[in-house]
Amino acid sequence: MAAGNFGDVVKHMVLLELVSLMVKDPQRKTSHFKYFETHGSEIEHAKLLSKSLGAIKLNELYNNQNGKFLIFGYQNDYLRLMKSYFGSLPITYPGSWYQVYRLLNDLNTNISINVCENDKIVSVPTLKEINDRNINVDYHDSDGLEKLKDHIKTKDLDLVFVDPYYTAEKTDKNLVFQITNLLDTNNIPYVIWFPRYTRKFRFCFIEDLKPELKCNMIEVTNKPPNKSSRNMLSSCMLFSANLVKYIEPIKKNISFLGCLGLGWEVKK
Ligand SMILES: C[S@@+](CC[C@H](N)C(=O)[O-])C[C@H]1O[C@@H](n2cnc3c(N)ncnc32)[C@H](O)[C@@H]1O
Repeated sequence: MAAGNFGDVVKHMVLLELVSLMVKDPQRKTSHFKYFETHGSEIEHAKLLSKSLGAIKLNELYNNQNGKFLIFGYQNDYLRLMKSYFGSLPITYPGSWYQVYRLLNDLNTNISINVCENDKIVSVPTLKEINDRNINVDYHDSDGLEKLKDHIKTKDLDLVFVDPYYTAEKTDKNLVFQITNLLDTNNIPYVIWFPRYTRKFRFCFIEDLKPELKCNMIEVTNKPPNKSSRNMLSSCMLFSANLVKYIEPIKKNISFLGCLGLGWEVKK
């Protein structure tokens, strides 16, 4: 799957809206934000391909708006953050944890970010780059769900983002299920992203998991303009019960996706 596709853009927009709403929440008592991401990947993904339709489309809109990135008079934290990336092709595309890192720094938040990546081909160069660029994150060259278990013990996390590959071979769905139960028990807020593929070659994890989960979800249906098998037809974010209050504001804040001509539809 190419980085910056429809599913990625939706996922990141929802994630950033959530972080932003949490930080700006008047009921929030601390200026510190502790974020944990289980499946982190790299800082910035390789140059975007034309298949990366979500980000490419936003890039076009950025140019049409003379760099102002006002979409139908609309601004959000994701679009604001992407200003420094968009403008001309090819573009690099920041990964989720780096977007969160940039946003939290922008919001002047005192942050602690833990990220896991267990593939050495990805983690070794990323660790070096983090060091070279002086990025203040704890990047662990280890299994994200196992590492998260250690952190849950401290009960001191503001948000956990679980973003695995959903293939039969790579995802241990029972482990994800165990982790959500642990997070629920410890009242730790979390979001889990998952694709809803209609194509048979993809493993449909959530249909198995959903009946047992206590979480709520936001679903964004995507009707892409072409029939490429790489396009994700629908993607979802599962929200832990303690994050439910943010779902409606997020839906409202990203509802403009449906006006982009991308065929996105935020389900109520
Ligand atoms: C879907 S990508 C993550 C994308 C990233 N969260 C983003 O949105 O930009 C999944 C990443 O998780 C890594 N990965 C797979 N299994 C893992 C595990 N058990 N622990 C940590 N990372 C893992 C893969 O190597 C891959 O780089």
